[in-house]
Formats: sequence, structure tokens, C-alpha cells
Amino acid sequence: MQKEIAVIRGDGIGPEIIEQALRVLERVAVRYGHTFHFIDVDMGGCALDRWGEPLPAKELRKCLDSDSVLLGAVGGEKRNNVPAELRPEKGLLSLRKALGVYSNNRPAKVWPQLSAVSPLKKEIVDRGIDFLIVRELTGGIYFGEHRTEEKEGITTSVDVLEYSETEIERIGRIGFEAAGKRKKKLCSVDKSNVLASSRLWRKVMHRLAEEYPDILLTDMLVDNCAMQIVRDPSQFDVIVTENMFGDILSDEASMITGSIGMIPSGSLGKGPRGLYEPIHGSAPDLAGKDEANPIGTILSAAMMLRYRFDLPEEAAAMENAVSKYLDAGWRTADIMQEGKKKAGCRRCGQVIMENL
Ligand code: IPM
Ligand code: MG
Repeated sequence: MQKEIAVIRGDGIGPEIIEQALRVLERVAVRYGHTFHFIDVDMGGCALDRWGEPLPAKELRKCLDSDSVLLGAVGGEKRNNVPAELRPEKGLLSLRKALGVYSNNRPAKVWPQLSAVSPLKKEIVDRGIDFLIVRELTGGIYFGEHRTEEKEGITTSVDVLEYSETEIERIGRIGFEAAGKRKKKLCSVDKSNVLASSRLWRKVMHRLAEEYPDILLTDMLVDNCAMQIVRDPSQFDVIVTENMFGDILSDEASMITGSIGMIPSGSLGKGPRGLYEPIHGSAPDLAGKDEANPIGTILSAAMMLRYRFDLPEEAAAMENAVSKYLDAGWRTADIMQEGKKKAGCRRCGQVIMENL
């Protein structure tokens, strides 16, 4: 198989973690007889420095012309004072929108080797943590109007949260279908006691439920969900929720599995092309220190092989290589445990690659 993969290294630890994922992908290509062409794309702060904008049209074009997009991380404190339109994060949001990837799938699963790293009590972890957050990715407050104005001498800011029935329905279907492939339990998370958009969300979810009689649909308010994720995460199978709630809940969900550095994500939508990225940020404080955990990125690349290129065997081999690395006692700083061997970012990638 020959594929063109647009690769966005981005900012902070982005380049380091991507480097390791590419080494692993190269090894998979050799082992299984594929050719992956990596096309470098500038996005985020690095694009801002080089081209004056976070996602130049010609860089976006490379993504649109590729078979899939693999992303490290973008953003960082350094650009906190630039205008909103030029923020590195704006590049990421524009990319998601341009690719039409409205469904972001973020698994929260404890690796057996890391159950002791979870900040939750052992008895809670032992009940099992294995759920999927389906986050709406191209709508809601992230994409509504943002403005700041002076009103009678007082600065006031507005962010608009808007959802149409169509947007809710298409992400709802992804939730129901994902649950259908798992334990058939879908929890729809909203804030319908306060927000109109959440009341519409709930109405659409219930209407859809009639089409999926084998799926058990429950509703949960987002504040309660934040609490339930730490109280008893074993109750969840698939969670479907809007953009900002999904952003927040997926960070929480990743933490209870041990480290945000371990969690991959895949974003899908209208076209076949997807966007694969770890869920953590650019961690500028770790940049260049060879301390970051590249596993979230490596597993994102595995998701890309499984879901985009239909290469389940290769994806499983990559996941297996990660598992063997953990079995051998290697740990990056974020998941370090007593008696284990400390690995830097490069070593981590090296060992995983050699396990293939
Ligand atoms: C994420 C990140 C992004 C988001 C930021 C970097 C804009 O936190 O992918 O979860 O909020 O979507
Ligand atoms: Mg986030």
C-alpha cells in the first residue's frame, strides 16, 4: 500500500513526539511492505513564525491533498498575546473545520501495566476503565462568534454557543454506532438544566434513540459526569458530548488512566480523510528536553492505520509493541514508577520500534 500522510510537527514537544511516531511507522512500512510518504506541513506557532499565519492556504492544501493527517501538538504561552485570529490554536481549529472532521474519538482505557499509576484508588481502577468519548469537534462555542467590545466604558466579551439539529444528529449517530460496536451503552452529556443548545441536544438524542433500539441511552449533566468519571468510571461505555464539554471531560478521563501522554485520538467526518493526534497539548515546559511521552502520538498513528487505511494487523502490531515496551519496565517521566526504567522520548520510540 502507498499512502501520502501530511505530517504536522507543530510546536513545543510536537516535533519530538512526531519524530518517534514516524520512526515506528517507517518500521511498520518495511515489515509489511507499504510505502508511506510523509509530507511536512507547517501549522501553529511555527507557521506563524515562518509564514505570518497559523495555517497558510498552501499548507492546508497539502493536508487536503493527502490521504490522512498526523499531528503532534500546537500552541504555547509564547503566543498568548497575539490577536485571536493568529493564535496557533486557530490553525488547529481551522484545520479541523476545513477537513470537516466533526467527530473526535478519544478512548480512555487503562493499560494493565499502568493501573497503579492512576490517581484513583485501586478498588475503583480494578472495576475497569474502558470507555470512549465521542466529542463533537467542529461546532459549538469554539466556532461561534467571539468578540470583545467596550460598553459604557466596561470591556465585555461574548462567545456564542450554537448547535443546529443537523450537527447534533450527525454526531449522535456516531455515538450510537460506536456504542453498537461496544457494550451498547451510550451516555449523552449535556447541560440541559441551563442551556438551550443542550435542551436541543437532548431532544435530538432521544429522537435518534428510536432508531437504535438495541442501544441503552442515558443522559447526564456535564457537572455530574465530571464527578462520575472519578467516582465510578466503570459505568461508562461510550460518552457523546458537545465540543467544549468533550474537551474538558477527555482531559479528566485521560488522567484517570494514568497520563494524558498515553491517549490517542482520531477525528473523522464528511470525507474519508481523518486527522490523528494525541489529546495532550504542546507542553512548552518539556520541549527539547527529550522527556515527553510519544505513546499518545504512536497510538494515534496506529488508529490511523486501523481506521483510515484499513490495516488492523499493522495497527495491532504497533499497539502490541507499546505493550511490550511497558512490559519491559520502560517508563517516561509522566508515568514513572518505583523500580522501573526511565526512558526519554527518543528511547521510548526506539524501544517500541525495535519491538516491531
Ligand atoms: C484538544 C486541545 C485543543 C482543543 C486546543 C489546543 C485548541 O485542547 O485537542 O483537546 O481545545 O480542542
Ligand atoms: Mg483539550
